[in-house]
Amino acid sequence: MELRLKNSLLRRWRSGDEPSLVQHASNRRIWLNVRDRFPYPYTMEDARFWVQAAGSAEIITNFAIVVDGEAVGGIGILLQDDVHWRSAEIGYWLGEDYWGRGIVTEAVCAVTDWAFESFDLCRIFAFVYEWNPASMRVLEKAGYQFEGRLRKSVTKDGRIIDQVIYAIVR
Ligand SMILES: CC(C)(COP(=O)(O)OP(=O)(O)OC[C@H]1O[C@@H](n2cnc3c(N)ncnc32)[C@H](O)[C@@H]1OP(=O)(O)O)[C@@H](O)C(=O)NCCC(=O)NCCS
Repeated sequence: MELRLKNSLLRRWRSGDEPSLVQHASNRRIWLNVRDRFPYPYTMEDARFWVQAAGSAEIITNFAIVVDGEAVGGIGILLQDDVHWRSAEIGYWLGEDYWGRGIVTEAVCAVTDWAFESFDLCRIFAFVYEWNPASMRVLEKAGYQFEGRLRKSVTKDGRIIDQVIYAIVR
């Protein structure tokens, strides 16, 4: 399962991705914008764990973002359960060297289309921390709509902050 895009290739994580994963993921500016379960510093052991888990999943929901042959970012969906089973959360990150080239916008568009086609979904959503306008812009460009602000819903880096939620429905 691969998605060939103009700026990148989205493919399953695989053994051999670990060094570039460590190189690009171990960045405090990335960590500040993602969940605390995304490690910082990002060690080789973390990379081995992630590549093994994501790469061996029965149903692929996480892709490596490959640019010039190297895995320099990640994008995936988290399928929801119970009464939310027709919803999925989308998440993504990209190595800082590659920011500002439209890579993630294109990937979000492609993964959104792929997810709607592959699973019986009617809603895909994303949470964004209040200090991350670049990610809000990515979602807007990909057709997601701002739905609201979850006040003081996150404690990150010792600070209590708001999140905004964006979603696309079909
Ligand atoms: C957010 C992130 C995914 C964006 O990836 P990217 O490939 O650089 O995004 P794109 O180039 O497709 O688009 C970025 C857009 O944000 C805009 N942008 C960047 N910094 C901005 C800022 N400080 N304020 C407003 N807009 C900003 C860019 O100008 C661009 O919009 P444009 O095309 O209208 O000019 C990347 O910076 C990243 O990985 N950040 C850390 C992890 C993260 O935030 N993950 C998402 C958690 S919700």
